[in-house]
Amino acid sequence: MLCNTKQLLLAAQQEKTAVAAFNVYSLETVQAAVRVAEQEERPVIIALGERYFPTVDVEGFAALVQAIAAKANVPVALHLDHAYEKASIVRAIRSGFTSVMYDGSKYELAENIRRTKELVELAHMAGVSVEAEIGSVARGDFSDEEEGDGTLTDPASAQRFVAETGVDFLAASIGTVHGMYTGEPNINLELLGRIREAVSVPLVLHGGSGTPDDVLTEAIRAGICKVNVNTEVSMAAVAYLVEAAQQPAFHRAHLSTIMESMQQSMVPVMARFVRLLAHKR
Ligand code: 13P
Repeated sequence: MLCNTKQLLLAAQQEKTAVAAFNVYSLETVQAAVRVAEQEERPVIIALGERYFPTVDVEGFAALVQAIAAKANVPVALHLDHAYEKASIVRAIRSGFTSVMYDGSKYELAENIRRTKELVELAHMAGVSVEAEIGSVARGDFSDEEEGDGTLTDPASAQRFVAETGVDFLAASIGTVHGMYTGEPNINLELLGRIREAVSVPLVLHGGSGTPDDVLTEAIRAGICKVNVNTEVSMAAVAYLVEAAQQPAFHRAHLSTIMESMQQSMVPVMARFVRLLAHKR
């Protein structure tokens, strides 16, 4: 069933687990995520980034996810990831997304607060929950996200930001990167603990891909309730296609078969995250 993202995250906060938010860009990615969630009997968040708005029929996509969610026997939420434009937030709300992320992290704190607060008021009128970010997650290898400067979240600013904007969940920048790490990950769990003490809303970790399992487990223990995952899933599908294209039979295969196999290639990666976030190994 389609569920409000906030409810899922508050439940995760209670049980000290996290919900996986998978970035999706096609029917195959949506189906893989929902199949994994059903197989693992866990909720899942389907996340579409604003960056895909030029190529994805947003209203059609939302209707598709809603139809798939209605049939699913686990809770499914529909989230707008990293939106920089008010118009995209309005479009997502109108299309029935259950949460939106406004990313005003490039602005000074006061301006980020002003812009975020306005969008929180708008979204809340429609019963849609809001995620926002202060600090900025850097970009590593193979990522499809915008460049970030890697500024870590300041706990005092986080406290003021949450109090003044009324956001429902907060993305904390603690050293993870969007995409794969180029060196040793340097993730500040002590800082996460201080952010957790400063705010009570569920915390979100961006940059799930490549983040060591023990760091994810510790981060969840320290208050992370949603982990965003994009690059590793994309890499698994691309690796499948590259490998399959080297087989002579591939060139005579039907696209429907290739797409189904590509969908299957994403399942183990997604399942690993879902299990890890639920503390199931
Ligand atoms: P990864 O690409 O590192 O998994 O990060 C995804 C993300 O945080 C999307 O918001």
